[in-house]
Amino acid sequence: MTARILEGKDFSARIKDEARAAVAQLKADGITPGLTVIIVGDNPASQVYVRNKHKTCEELGIRSDVIALPEDSTKDQLLDTIDRLNADPAVNGILVQLPLPSAIKSHEQEILERIDPLKDVDGFHPFNVGKLVTGAPTLVPCTPAGCVKMLDLAGIDIDGKRAVIIGRSNIVGKPMLHLLMARHATVTVCHSHTKPLGEVTREADILVAAMGRAKFVTADMVKPGATVIDVGINRIAPKKLVGDVDFDSVKEIAGAITPVPGGVGLLTVSMLMQNVVTATRLQLGRH
Ligand code: GUN
Repeated sequence: MTARILEGKDFSARIKDEARAAVAQLKADGITPGLTVIIVGDNPASQVYVRNKHKTCEELGIRSDVIALPEDSTKDQLLDTIDRLNADPAVNGILVQLPLPSAIKSHEQEILERIDPLKDVDGFHPFNVGKLVTGAPTLVPCTPAGCVKMLDLAGIDIDGKRAVIIGRSNIVGKPMLHLLMARHATVTVCHSHTKPLGEVTREADILVAAMGRAKFVTADMVKPGATVIDVGINRIAPKKLVGDVDFDSVKEIAGAITPVPGGVGLLTVSMLMQNVVTATRLQLGRH
């Protein structure tokens, strides 16, 4: 039996409907939520992502600004831009698109820490990371939050399940650990030094692949009936994107699986819209 395919567009539409209703409610109170995205340089993938964010904001009635800074911008120019947005009450969400150009990449953490934590719609500021770890309500990174939301909307139980995450990044693996643990899963985080990897991944009821290696997860690494969430986006040819999961073989054994493209990537933008709403409410002192 082949797996249930978890199509990102179906879940994304539902999340956007929720965000649209929340935006309408805020507007009825005279408040228009606003997002400002800063993009530095001309990374083509980043430009596509930023355009998508802008379009989705417009679709939902969120005010959207994009500040495009030149590739050779200095760290201080970027920090000054963030300071200005922090002080602007019309800006409820600030997002610095990653990756930064190589000349300022080493300052990434300082730059992300400059964002007002209440406007940090990426959930990358240590203040928000700390809140997530302690289980307090906060702005949570969009991609892992989208994965959990998708499980909920798909009716896939998390409580008491064995979850295995491959990848320990700050953007996906680590926040995913805390989100799933908060929902009472027993969670294992694997990475490049985990041995033997297949033995651990075969224990998973919920397997999250987020390590950035094309088609790495094969059917022999998956427990029959497991839910497999593929967060990877790997370009293997100019027009060919694949995930971290070998979709064709794994779909024959999994119970449910997300495709790439068209899977959880679509949820990231929708969850960002929800975070803009959450940030706006936090700034108003509403929770
Ligand atoms: N680049 C790729 N994914 C992301 C993300 O979630 N946030 C930011 N700021 N940049 C990214």
